[in-house]
Formats: sequence, structure tokens, C-alpha cells
Amino acid sequence: MDFELKSLGLSDAATWSGDALLVLVPEQPVQGAGALASLVDTAHRSKDLEASPGATLALYRPAGVKAPRVVLARAGDTAAAVRKAVAAGVGALRQPSTKRLALVFAGDSASPAAVQAAVQAVAESSYVYTTTKPSAKARTLQKVTLGVPDAAAVKAAFATGQALVAGVETAKEWANRPANHATPSHLAEAARALAKRPGLSVEVLGPKQVQALGMGAFLAVAQGSEEPLRFIVLRYQGAAKSQAPVVLVGKGITFDTGGISIKPAPEMDEMKFDMSGAASVLGTFAALADLKPAVNVVGLIPACENMPDGRAVKPGDVVTSMSGQTIEILNTDAEGRLILCDALTYAKRFKPHSVIDIATLTGACVIALGAVRTGLFSPRDELADALMAAGERAGDLCWRLPLDDEYAEGLKSNFADVANVAGRAAGSVTAAKFLQRFATELPWAHLDIAGTAWRGGAAKGATGRPVALLVQYLLDTAAAAAPAAPRRGKTTRG
Ligand code: BES
Ligand code: MN
Ligand code: ZN
Repeated sequence: MDFELKSLGLSDAATWSGDALLVLVPEQPVQGAGALASLVDTAHRSKDLEASPGATLALYRPAGVKAPRVVLARAGDTAAAVRKAVAAGVGALRQPSTKRLALVFAGDSASPAAVQAAVQAVAESSYVYTTTKPSAKARTLQKVTLGVPDAAAVKAAFATGQALVAGVETAKEWANRPANHATPSHLAEAARALAKRPGLSVEVLGPKQVQALGMGAFLAVAQGSEEPLRFIVLRYQGAAKSQAPVVLVGKGITFDTGGISIKPAPEMDEMKFDMSGAASVLGTFAALADLKPAVNVVGLIPACENMPDGRAVKPGDVVTSMSGQTIEILNTDAEGRLILCDALTYAKRFKPHSVIDIATLTGACVIALGAVRTGLFSPRDELADALMAAGERAGDLCWRLPLDDEYAEGLKSNFADVANVAGRAAGSVTAAKFLQRFATELPWAHLDIAGTAWRGGAAKGATGRPVALLVQYLLDTAAAAAPAAPRRGKTTRG
């Protein structure tokens, strides 16, 4: 799907020749002459277009408008309102004949946040997964023209929106693929393909190298599977080599059966999504390749299957992690923290600016926060605040949960330095406490995306979260590191 940004008023939009026109109508009445402006005005006055964001009014071949189908959608000032309006509008225009769509902001302004949100929302509501479903009707939307009062003013936001779409759709694609089409080796190939782009590079380690590194916890999870593990190290260099990188660590369990502590059958298929953290790292790198921000980023993906087998790790087994800490594996289904802890130890060699792990880590997080907000854990207020703010800006929300040391009590073991599970209480917090032991001295944050990475039920599928949050955080980090640009309209010091 191609996007195009144009300076376009309502009178220009009326003569635009394409399949459908989606007009975003602000809360306030719209001034202007011409057929479209008067349509919008009438709809507003008659209250046929309701005032709440997302309300729509569909028209067919209205006089004086070239596009055959027109939908008016009530938006508002916020990015969230724009998202609602676009989702409703694109939904109302989801006919196979809608190939060329123009999305026009009817007010006298379109904020950068609104433009970015509009691009993201068009993609979101027209996405179709087709890789293993040849009968699926591919996305019909081919070209989307964004009409705004002043294109130059929102160029950067438009580009960010497009890069986010590329990133989110990369993440969705890999998370959606069934586990037999998304093995650790497949993920490594995907990383290799990505790394062909300028600024990106990759290194892929196999079982022997991971063994040599002493990643006993990661190896223990992988040992029950016929699929060889992969440890993927992606790099994006956008700033001077001397600048400390942000390290992203994505959980890459390509299928989680639970291992010997096997999961019940209902909904076990959804455990193909247990590599959504890894997929979000791939997606973030795809967006980086497009945006080229001035920041250095390392992506670490420990990838393997968690399977029951004659050689699989057993409850009670004690393994030695790369950090030297021994771990009693009381429950083989708490495998995510086992692969992540070794990746966190590996992250230390980069002397990172910050380390963020992204993982579908606990069912308890789904119970705590549902599908709305990702669980955020960090002992560093500054990092936690930056991630919260990035999430708000990108419309990809998270919420901070606690890390008091008392929560680690249950991780004590009589046979190892630490156990991999505590009791049922505060399960997402105790998982984070486990990880924290391996992130000592690191500016570390953990995102538990168990509730937000995919939707179940009839709309089953990956969401591409939290790519938007991560990319926003990286853009913010780049902006903070850059020397302050002189701002227009401000008087110079002197
Ligand atoms: N991948 C799961 C977490 C998960 C479960 C995500 C359901 C989304 C939906 C993880 O590996 C896991 O199995 N966690 C266990 C931990 C428990 C054994 C302490 C869980 O949450 O039940
Ligand atoms: Mn598990
Ligand atoms: Zn898992």
C-alpha cells in the first residue's frame, strides 16, 4: 500500500478522482465554499453526523464530488479521536472496489500527531494476513492520498507514520505465521534479510556458540526441541560508534507447549505468538531502516521452541546461567525468563544506554492489565517515564508495575541460587523480579506484552505492539542526544 501526502482543501478534494473519499470532520463547524464544504456543513448542522469521534455518514455519488463514494467521519483534536474516525471510515469503505482512497482533513489544520495517527490507522484497519491463507482476499487498498491544509508542516510525521506501518506490519507478519513457518531458523533468515538494508547488520549464533558463551538457561529451554536454537544479534548504527546503544531484547519462543510442565490443550495454538517480542524487535529494525534516526540500537533475539521430549529439561533440574547464577527450573513453562536472563547478561557487553526486554512473559499480566496496556517494569524512574511517555505519544500504551524486593521472596530455592517460579500471587511481578537479578547495573526495563501482542477469538491475530512505542522511544532518545536545534521564532541568545 502506497501513501502520498498532499496539500488539499475541501474544494480540491471534490475534484479528486479516485474510488473513495474519507473526510475527517472536526468538532467545530467547517468554513469554505464548494460542494464538499457545504455537505460537511449540512451534516454538521442537521446533526446527521453525530458529534462523537468515530461517528460516520456514508454518501453515494453526491453532486459536485468526483469520487463516487464519500464517507464523513467525525474526528477530534486528539490522535485517539483521529484513530477512531479513520478506523470507522475505512471500515465503511471496505469494498473490493476501493483501491484509491483519499483521506482529507476538513478543518483548517492537521496536527503532526493527527497525521501520524491517520497513517497508522489506515494501515491498521486494512491489514490482511495472507502468507499461509491463499484464499484470503489481499488488501484491496493500493494507494492512499492524505490531504492536509499544509503538507510541508506534517512531512516528518507522515514519514514516521509510514515507517511505523512498515514496522508494525513486519511484526504482525512474523507473529502471525504458524510455528512451522516461523522457526528459530526462519527468524534468523528474516533478520538476515533485514540486515541487507543500509545501516543494519546481523550476526546469528547457533547451539555451539551459545554453549561456548555459557548460556545454560537458554540451552535448557531449547534442549527438548528438534529445531536448533538461534541467537540473533541485530545492529543499527545511526550515530557515532562511541555512542552507547539502546539494546532491545525480544523473547523468541517460536512455540511454547510448556515443555514437561505441559499446557492444557485449549488455545495452545496461541502459543505460536510467544515470539511476539522477537517480532517486535524485527519490526522496530524495519522502521529504523526507513527513518534512520541518530541513535545506535542492538537487537537481541534468543529464539527456540519449548517442547516436551525425552531430552527435555525436567522440573527440579538445576542449570547454570551465563551470569554464573544457578537456576532451579521448578516449572518448565516459565521458559521465557530463562532465555531472557542469558540475553540480558549478553547485553552487558554493549555498555548500553538502556536495555529493554519485550516478552509475552506471563498469563498473570493478561489478568492484571488485559489487552489495553502493556506491563512496564523498571527500577529506573527516568527510563520508565520515557517509555510511558513514548507509549502515550504513539498510542501504544503501557502501565508501570512495582518491583519491590519483597516480591522476590518466593524465588528462593534450596538447591540453586534462584528458582524460576514463585507462587501464583503477582505472577508478572515475580517474573520481572527474576529478570532483574540478571540486569543488575543495567538501565533496564521490561515490557510484558502477554495481553497486548495479539487478539484472541474471531479477530485472532497479532497486533504489532509494541513496535510503535519502541520506535517512538528511540526517536525521543535520538532527539535528546542531538544538540538542541535552533527553534524557529525564538530570539537567539547573545
Ligand atoms: N508464554 C507464556 C505466557 C503467556 C500465557 C502469555 C498466556 C500469554 C497468554 C509463558 O511462557 C508462561 O507459560 N508463563 C507461565 C508462568 C508460570 C508457569 C509461572 C504462566 O503465565 O502461566
Ligand atoms: Mn511458558
Ligand atoms: Zn512462553
